[in-house]
Amino acid sequence: MKLAMTTALAGAMTLSASAAFAQDEEKIDVGMILPYVGVYASLGEEIDQGFMLALEEAGMTDRFNIIREDTEASPQVGVAATRKLILEDEVDVLTGLVSSGVLGAVRDFVDQSQTPLIVSNAGNDEATGEDCSPYITRVSFSNAQVNRPMGQWLYDQGMRTVYTLAPDYAAGQQHIGAFVEAFEEAGGEVVGQDYTPFGQTQDFGPYLTTAQAADPDAIFVFYAGSEAINFVKQYDSFGIKEETPLYGSGFLTSQLYLEAEGPAAVGVVTSLHYVPTLDTPENKAFVEAFQAAADRLPSEYAVQGYDAGRSLVEAVKAGATDRESIKEALREVSYTGPRGPLEIDPATNNIVQNVYIYDIVEGENGLTQELIDTVEAVRDEPNGCELE
Ligand code: PHB
Repeated sequence: MKLAMTTALAGAMTLSASAAFAQDEEKIDVGMILPYVGVYASLGEEIDQGFMLALEEAGMTDRFNIIREDTEASPQVGVAATRKLILEDEVDVLTGLVSSGVLGAVRDFVDQSQTPLIVSNAGNDEATGEDCSPYITRVSFSNAQVNRPMGQWLYDQGMRTVYTLAPDYAAGQQHIGAFVEAFEEAGGEVVGQDYTPFGQTQDFGPYLTTAQAADPDAIFVFYAGSEAINFVKQYDSFGIKEETPLYGSGFLTSQLYLEAEGPAAVGVVTSLHYVPTLDTPENKAFVEAFQAAADRLPSEYAVQGYDAGRSLVEAVKAGATDRESIKEALREVSYTGPRGPLEIDPATNNIVQNVYIYDIVEGENGLTQELIDTVEAVRDEPNGCELE
């Protein structure tokens, strides 16, 4: 009797264990590599929230097992985190990366291990250019993509000379590089440039003094995270905004930093692939859902996380279950989302999307983004990438 019961119990246990195993087997293991501390911590949190919203919206949170690792915006930490997710956790897909420096550092390992990676921020041009990989798909932007349209646009506004500033790492050089190339092509002249120590510059005063001495028509910058907040506030206190207007890559006055920047952000004109004021049904629905979940307006980082999640959802819905099939299905992703129409360019695996030129104004309910211009369906040249 005792033996029979034990056998029955053991049988039941085996059955439930194998049922649970089968269920677990069906789950897609997702390695989420984002900065959760340091200069880009708030970006990581926002991307994570957007990603989870996409899974919830699809009713598919149970289908995925999310394993989070912190990159701290440090290439060394990012490589260790990526290796752990690929080798120890054996994830089916990776997503995340905020810093271009970290993306550059993990690129070879991702490619060689044949693990699909959905980039949800890092704009590193090479990752979808000369160092592209069939395993790297980017649903955020490339650094060149968001800045190139501003070159001609600034010239058309009558600006003939600029001074540029950015943090001294890959993204800083690439954001500024793309703008400068387009501005010079339009006929403009760069009268000076400087790069500030990344993540360490508290006081931009000395750099602004040098910039002012060069007497440019305008200043063009790239800053993000806590550096964007400090820069915008210090530029305003410096007192030259009227005579030397501030332009830049649109992350500078992201919705994510706007409250902290306050009135110092008013009048700053930039370009970006998303602003929460876009007047479309898709964006309105997204803003409402994000606000309900997070109790604040979404920024471009939330949308990037959301689109990374939604791309993965679409890939899985199309039947993808493992590294190879996920990588293939991601290339087919195309829909109209919060930021407008998007598709993955088969030539580079980079996103094709609109770029919006906007400024910050004092609205009825506080500071807000006013859309000035839309450059439609911006696509990067293959730049040495040969995916097709
Ligand atoms: C980057 O390092 O590629 C980067 C970081 C923060 C941004 C945009 C680009 O807001």
